[in-house]
Amino acid sequence: MHIIAIENFTKDYGNKKGVFDISFHIEKGEVYGYLGPNGAGKSTTLRHLMGFSKPDCGTLSINDLDCWNDKTIIKKDIGYLPGEIALPEDMTGIGYLKLIDKLRKTNDLSYANELIEYFEIDSSMKIKKMSKGMKQKIAIIMAFMHDPDILLLDEPTSGLDPLMQEKFIKLINSEKQKGKTIILSSHIFEEISKLCDRVGIIKKGKLIKEVVMEDLKHSENKTYKIEFKNENDFTKIKEKYPSAKLKTTEKQVIISITDNEINDLISDLSSCDIRFLKEEKHTLEEYFMKFYEDDENV
Ligand SMILES: Nc1ncnc2c1ncn2[C@@H]1O[C@H](COP(=O)(O)OP(=O)(O)OP(=O)(O)O)[C@@H](O)[C@H]1O
Ligand SMILES: [Mg+2]
Repeated sequence: MHIIAIENFTKDYGNKKGVFDISFHIEKGEVYGYLGPNGAGKSTTLRHLMGFSKPDCGTLSINDLDCWNDKTIIKKDIGYLPGEIALPEDMTGIGYLKLIDKLRKTNDLSYANELIEYFEIDSSMKIKKMSKGMKQKIAIIMAFMHDPDILLLDEPTSGLDPLMQEKFIKLINSEKQKGKTIILSSHIFEEISKLCDRVGIIKKGKLIKEVVMEDLKHSENKTYKIEFKNENDFTKIKEKYPSAKLKTTEKQVIISITDNEINDLISDLSSCDIRFLKEEKHTLEEYFMKFYEDDENV
C-alpha cells in the first residue's frame, strides 16, 4: 500500500489554470520533492491532500483513506505547513501553539518546546511583532509538534535565513530517520538534492517528470545536441523526447538524459540520418533549471 496515492487528479480553475490528470505515489519513509515554477500547481495539490477542496476528477488518498471524504480522520496524523501562512496576529507565539495543542487534544507541548529552543525563537512575542522568518518558524513548529507520521510542507524554508535553512534540513533528516513520510514543495535545488529521495516535477498543472535522486547523483547527467539531416527523423525524436529543446530551423534537438537512459537514446538514434551529435555537460541545478524555462517544449 502507498502511504500517499494520487490518481488522475484534476482541478480545473478555468483558463488552463489548475492541475490536470496528475498521478503519483509516495511510499512510507520517503521524502518526496515537489518542484515546479510559480503557478505550476504545487500548493493546489497539497491543499487537496489536506481535503480543503474537492477534486474535479480523480482521487487523492492517504493511508488508503480518501482525502476529501475522510479528511477528519486523516488530518489527525498529518502535519501541514501552508505555502501562505496566516497566523492570528494578536496572539503570542506560544499562546497560539498552546491553542493548537488544545484543539488537537494532544496535551503535549514537549516537542513544541524542544523546537522553540532549536529554532531560537522568542515565543512570548506577539505574532504581529514577529519577522517573516519568525512566523515561518512558528508555522513549522505547528506542523511538527504533534509528531505526525506524514508531513505536507509547502515551501518550508521560505523566509528562513541560510543558517536556519541548514537547521531545517537537519530537522527533516532526523524526522526521516524516525520513518516519517514527507512531501515538500520547493524552489531550492540544493534543498531538494540534500533532502529528497524522489522528485516530481510539475509544470502548468501537469506532472512532467519523476526523478530518483540517487540515480541523478550517481549517474553523470548529460546533454546531447543532435542535428538531423531530414525532417522525419527530427520529428520522430522530438515526439519521443517531449522535454527536449528544439531548434527547428536547423533540425536540432537538445536532449538531457541520465547515463541509465543512454542505451535507449542510442537505439532511438540508430535508425536516423544524423548530421552531428555533440555532448554538453551540465550540473544538477541545470538539470532542474531546464524545467523552469518558459519553453513550450519543456
Ligand atoms: N482558488 C483558486 N481559484 C482560481 N485559480 C486558482 C486557485 N488556486 C490556484 N489557482 C491557480 O492555479 C494555478 C496553480 O496554483 P498553485 O498555487 O497551486 O501554484 P504553485 O505551484 O503552488 O505556485 P507557487 O510556486 O507560486 O507557490 C495557478 O495558475 C493559480 O493562479
Ligand atoms: Mg504554492
